Amino acid sequence: MKRGVFIVFEGIEGSGKSTQAQLLADALERKGVNVDFSREPGGSEVAERIREVLLDSELEEMHPRTELLLYLAARAEHVAKRIRRKLFADKAVVISDRYTLSTLAYQAGGRELDTKRVARLCKFASGGLEPDLTVLVDLDVKEAFTRLDRPHDRLEQAGKEFHEKVREAYLYFARRAPRKIRVFNGAKEKMMLHEEIKQVVLNLLTSKGML
Ligand SMILES: Nc1ncnc2c1ncn2[C@@H]1O[C@H](COP(=O)(O)OP(=O)(O)OP(=O)(O)O)[C@@H](O)[C@H]1O
Ligand SMILES: [Mg+2]
Repeated sequence: MKRGVFIVFEGIEGSGKSTQAQLLADALERKGVNVDFSREPGGSEVAERIREVLLDSELEEMHPRTELLLYLAARAEHVAKRIRRKLFADKAVVISDRYTLSTLAYQAGGRELDTKRVARLCKFASGGLEPDLTVLVDLDVKEAFTRLDRPHDRLEQAGKEFHEKVREAYLYFARRAPRKIRVFNGAKEKMMLHEEIKQVVLNLLTSKGML
C-alpha cells in the first residue's frame, strides 16, 4: 500500500455533509481504521486563519478572484502540512469536509469564473493530489436552507439563486466523473444515508487492501 485513502464530502450548505462525514469517521474508527478527519477551508494553522477571513460576514464583499485565491491558499497549506503526511506517512484514511470540487462548484459554478482556469489553479494549489472518492450529498436548496438555524455567514447570504447555480455545477461535475464523484440523496433520513455511504466506502477500502 503506497498511500492511505482520501475521501471528500461535498454539497451545498445544509445538505448534511458534515453530519455524514462525522458518522463515517466514527464508524471507521470503531473498526480500528486510522482516520484523519479534516475540513476546508482550514485543517492547518495558517489555513484556519484564512478561513476566518473567508467566512467573516462583517468584511466587505470580496472580489471573486480574491476569494478564489484565498480558498486555494488555504488548500495548498492544508495539503502540504496535513493531508500528504496523513496519506503517505501514516497511510491513514483522510476524510475532508470539502476540497477541490467546492472550488469548482462555488467559484466557477457560483461566481462564474472560467472553469478551465479554476481547474488549472486548483491543480496548482493541491499539487495534483486528487481524492479517491468524492461523496456528493445532494439536496434541494430550499430544503437545505430550512435546516440551517445558525446565523447565516457570508456565503449563505449570497442567496438562493447563487446556491442553485452551485448545486447545478456540483451535479454537472458528478455527471462528468461518475466513478470518482458519487451522488447521494441528502433528503434521506441520516442513518439510512450513512449506511449507503458506508457501504460504498467499505467496498473502496476493501479494494485498496485497507480492510
Ligand atoms: N439527513 C438529514 N435529514 C434531516 N436533517 C439533517 C440530515 N442531515 C443533517 N441534518 C441536519 O441539517 C443541518 C445541517 O447539516 P450539516 O451541518 O451536516 O450540513 P453541512 O452540509 O455540513 O452544512 P455547512 O456547509 O453549512 O457546513 C444540521 O442541523 C443537521 O443536524
Ligand atoms: Mg458542514
